Amino acid sequence: MEVLITADRIQTRVDELAAEIVRTYDGKPVTVVGILTGCLMFTADLIRRIDLPIRVAFITASSYRGETFVAGRLEIHDELLPDIAGKHILLLDDILDTGKTLTRVVAHLIDRGAASVKVSVLLRKLGRQEVPFEPDFVGFTIPDKFVVGYGLDFNDEHRHLPFVGILQPG
Ligand code: IMP
Ligand code: MG
Repeated sequence: MEVLITADRIQTRVDELAAEIVRTYDGKPVTVVGILTGCLMFTADLIRRIDLPIRVAFITASSYRGETFVAGRLEIHDELLPDIAGKHILLLDDILDTGKTLTRVVAHLIDRGAASVKVSVLLRKLGRQEVPFEPDFVGFTIPDKFVVGYGLDFNDEHRHLPFVGILQPG
């Protein structure tokens, strides 16, 4: 598999993102909400570097189904989410692709009474966005390739890789 972003580069960038986030919130308490399952590594690495009073929670949003590259219907499950009314939310996802998932999840969190929602993604894919959406903190901008590793999967495989690699189709 072709390595696109090495484990070292990811760790360096996560350090920088954490510093930006700490500066932005300036001591304010934050509820970090990860979108499962892709947020797994990014969340674990980022929260250990955020020196703020934080709570950590998860939500599930899945559009990719089974062995396909095509996005299907989006399902949001928030049974694991605590009360977020009046809370400042930092939403974490692995990748911004079409933008549909994050648009829907942000609207859902606002609906649940969040005081604010900021978004951090590890990756942003160029030339794929279908709905206008501006994340607040972006790790890396990548070309339009299907990538796996560091939480990102194909059919739930490859999530454990410490780097981001390009999956060859076929
Ligand atoms: P969006 O709603 O199209 O922005 O899709 C976001 C979701 O699609 C991400 O949370 C990923 O789960 C998945 N996704 C998009 N591109 C890739 C990729 O290159 N590799 C693995 N998953 C991806
Ligand atoms: Mg995913």
